[in-house]
Amino acid sequence: MADQPLHTETAAEPGFGQWVKIRRHLHQYPELSGEEVETTAYIRARLEELGIRIADAFKLRTGLVAEVGGLRPGPVIAIRADIDALPVTEDTGLPYASAIPGSMHACGHDFHTAALIGTAHALKLREQELSGTVRLIFQPAEEKAKGAQQVVGSGALEGVAAIFGMHNKPDLPVGTIGIKEGPLMAAADGFVVQVRGKGTHAAVPEAGLDPIVAASHIVTALQSIVSRNVGSLQSAVVSVTKFNSGTIWNVVPELAVLEGTIRTFEEGVRRRVLDRFRQVVEGTAASFGTEAELRFIEGPPPVHNDAALAALGTQAAREAGYTAIVPVPSPAGEDFAVYQRHVPGLFVFMGTNGTEEWHHPGFNLDEAALPVSIAFFSRLAELALEQLAKGGEGL
Ligand code: NI
Repeated sequence: MADQPLHTETAAEPGFGQWVKIRRHLHQYPELSGEEVETTAYIRARLEELGIRIADAFKLRTGLVAEVGGLRPGPVIAIRADIDALPVTEDTGLPYASAIPGSMHACGHDFHTAALIGTAHALKLREQELSGTVRLIFQPAEEKAKGAQQVVGSGALEGVAAIFGMHNKPDLPVGTIGIKEGPLMAAADGFVVQVRGKGTHAAVPEAGLDPIVAASHIVTALQSIVSRNVGSLQSAVVSVTKFNSGTIWNVVPELAVLEGTIRTFEEGVRRRVLDRFRQVVEGTAASFGTEAELRFIEGPPPVHNDAALAALGTQAAREAGYTAIVPVPSPAGEDFAVYQRHVPGLFVFMGTNGTEEWHHPGFNLDEAALPVSIAFFSRLAELALEQLAKGGEGL
């Protein structure tokens, strides 16, 4: 994708150039999940320059928490940005392309981080008027679905009444914000199934227990879960993506191993699919005299937005002069969902007009979405504090 021109500052977009500069610096020096040491130092330096206090009481190895407000009493709300990059080799040709081989901000978390620093600045300018506190969470390790849990462990969610976050969305235009109550992104669980049989000579199968035949029936039986156990208006995906067994043409092996992923959008459906998965695997294996050992690799739960916060988000978008639409949910996972297990939250899709999908080596976004994000989140934070201070009717 071609380079985006550096937008010149206008009266309507004060300081826009500085957020672009920050985003490009982060883009050029990406760090992988859990290794965001320089990134954290860079964010800290920028926040300190802007006079924003760092909340060091919340201890994180990488990532940090900062705060704006608190001059007047009121509730605490949080806005979260993820800061980590992916093990992807960049292929954009941008002048500020990754300087670190094998590491790239291919999911736009550089954009999320720059937008949150800009939002912190916008709120800082209005700090005298804020009734309450806005906690700014710069979260590490989203791509490994570990960072949100670390932030919760640091205590940074304590006392928080509502939390907000976003992901850039390449297929939405700049100025359009996808806001939806209920399910938005999927729970992404993995599985490994080991089917253990009894090896034998391929010409004497009756002397053994064939794990390939048993595992083949398991793969087929698993297809019934989505078609027979998930409602027609609900959705789920069960994909077996790996099937390993055997060494040579004349030996029935001892073991067959299956791996794959399960995606669901609601906790109830997730539980039902996982329970059914276990029954099908164990029951089918037993019916062939084999034994199955099943291990789930638990991913983040589904992103599920609070209805009242979604309405507030739509109001904030409108008041900031942007278009709110109800987006199609994404089957990708997102560990923002971990926060929503603790406090009501709203996660939105920010239109960034990209040509490539998330995680592509040519991924890029339109930086004109930076002032949109900053205006939207600062308005949303003000509205949320006002509503919560009034007793949070509907929140
Ligand atoms: Ni991402």
